[in-house]
Amino acid sequence: MKILGIESSCDETSVAVVEDGIKVLSNVIVSQIEEHQLYGGVVPEIASRRHCESIVKVTDMALNQAGLSLEQIDAIAVTYAPGLIGALLVGVNFAKGLALATQKPLIPVHHIRGHIAANYISNGVKPPFLCMIMSGGHSHIVRVKSYTEFEIIGRTRDDAVGEAYDKAARALGFPYPGGIHLDKAAALGDKTTFCFPKPKVEGSAYDFSFSGLKTAVLNLIHNAKQKGVSLNVNDVAACFQQTVCDIIAQRLMAAAEEFGERKIVLAGGVSANRGIRARMQQECEQCQIELYMPPLCYCGDNAAMIAAQGYFEWKDKKATGMDLNAVASLPITDNKFNII
Ligand code: KG4
Ligand code: ZN
Repeated sequence: MKILGIESSCDETSVAVVEDGIKVLSNVIVSQIEEHQLYGGVVPEIASRRHCESIVKVTDMALNQAGLSLEQIDAIAVTYAPGLIGALLVGVNFAKGLALATQKPLIPVHHIRGHIAANYISNGVKPPFLCMIMSGGHSHIVRVKSYTEFEIIGRTRDDAVGEAYDKAARALGFPYPGGIHLDKAAALGDKTTFCFPKPKVEGSAYDFSFSGLKTAVLNLIHNAKQKGVSLNVNDVAACFQQTVCDIIAQRLMAAAEEFGERKIVLAGGVSANRGIRARMQQECEQCQIELYMPPLCYCGDNAAMIAAQGYFEWKDKKATGMDLNAVASLPITDNKFNII
C-alpha cells in the first residue's frame, strides 16, 4: 500500500511516499528555518503562509521522486495534531482536497506517533518497546504497546527538552534553533566545570522538569556578566548537555527496569543529539537492552514518518471524512478516529 504523507505542523513543509509503512519511496522537506531565524523563533503566521506557498510544489516533487502519479497512490495521510494551528490547517485542508478530488482514503496522523514511526522506516524495530520522545514541544516516556496503543508514563511538567536546549542556546548566543549548536559546542567543552540542578519531580518517578536547568544556565550567564567574568561557552554547553543526559538516562533506565522493557527507542528532533545518543548506547549496552535511534535524517520533522504511521493507523481501521479538523494540542493516546 503506497501512502502519500503530508507534514506541516511547524516550520517544515514535507511530503513523502512510503510503501507498507516501511519503504520510503520519496521524502521531500522544505525548511523555513532561515526566515524564522531572523526573529529568534518560529513566527506562526509566517509558517502558515510559507506552507501555503510550498505545499503544491513539494507534493509534485515527492510524487516525481517516487516515480508515481497521484492515481497510483492508495491513501493520503496527514498530520492533524499537535502543532501550530494555522500551520496544521494548511496540511489538513490540502490533504482533504486531495482525498476528495481523488476519492482516496484520508488518514489522520498524530505528529508524535509519526516521530516514533521514524524508527519503523529506518531500523525495523517493532512494538512493544519503551520510547523516549524528545522534541521542541514534547518530552514523554511512552510505553508503545502496539503501533496504535500508547501509555504515557512520564512527561515534562514545564519546558520540553528541545525548548530547554533552544532557550539555553539562545542565551549562549547561538542562532535558532540552537539545539544542534549547543550539541556541537558541548563536544568541545569540559563537562565537569559547573554543576547544574537535576530536579526531582514530586509524585512521579518518570516526570521531567527542565525549566530549572534552563534558569540555572541563564543565572550563570547573568552573574558572570555582572562580575565581568568571561564564560567558556563550550564548558557551559558540555555541563548543560551532561545534566540533560543524566536526567534522561536515569528516568529511562529506571522505567525499563520497572516495566521489564528490553527495547528502548528514541524519537523526535532531540534524538539527533550526539551526547544523548552516546550516553544511551553506553547505558543500554551495560544493561543488555536493545537501543534503536532514528538516523539523523529522520529525527527532525518529515513526512515519511507520517506516511509510515498512516499505514499502521489504516491497518487499525482508522480513517476520517471531510470533517477532519486540525487540533493544536492532543495527547498521543487519543483514539477518536475509528470510523471505517
Ligand atoms: O521534532 P522536532 O524536529 O520538532 C518538533 O516536533 O518540535 O524537534 C525540534 C527540536 C528543536 O528544539 C531543536 O533545537 C532540537 O529538536 N534539536 C536538537 C538537536 N537537533 C535538533 N537538540 C539537541 N541536540 C541536537 N543535535
Ligand atoms: Zn516534530
